[in-house]
Amino acid sequence: MYNDLKHYNLVFIGFMGVGKTTISSKVSKILNREIIDTDKKIIEKTNIEISDIFNQFGEEYFRNIESNIISEISTKKDVIISCGGGSVIREKNVSLLKENGIIIRLTANPHTIFNRVRKSNSRPILKNNMNEQFISSLMKKRDLIYKNAADITISTDYKSIKEISKECIEKSIQFIKYNK
Ligand code: S3P
Repeated sequence: MYNDLKHYNLVFIGFMGVGKTTISSKVSKILNREIIDTDKKIIEKTNIEISDIFNQFGEEYFRNIESNIISEISTKKDVIISCGGGSVIREKNVSLLKENGIIIRLTANPHTIFNRVRKSNSRPILKNNMNEQFISSLMKKRDLIYKNAADITISTDYKSIKEISKECIEKSIQFIKYNK
């Protein structure tokens, strides 16, 4: 059954705190595939933490490195890609990721997200805005971007990691069957 996914990348997108890192890691274990995390790649490449890149050089600089990483990794096949929450803001990144990949958008409601990210200080976008209201309004602003980029959408609210991962794999197989 997993053979149907052969040659395709599974690309996880969505707002901060939807569970991209956790789910992509579980899916990579189930499928026994390499996992690439764009934020980790950025840190590896620059040797600077994400929040320090934002502080010292600004968001545009961060987005440029992010785009370079995406253009590098999107040529791969058979990998799992976990994207930073803003990776799909640039349309060019989306079309590159789509070339070899199925784009899986994970969602969660603002309350769930807030509870998942509230103790984190590694997300510069939320640094001075760590509240449910800000999360909700930024989610609304970005919603269409995620929707338009996605091949598949999966809600993560009130589900286990195992359930979500299974759903991601099954829906990807269905997507390939009917669309590729
Ligand atoms: C960002 C999300 C972060 C990280 C950076 C910017 C965003 O990744 O790339 O802080 O703009 O949504 P996560 O979605 O993994 O938190």
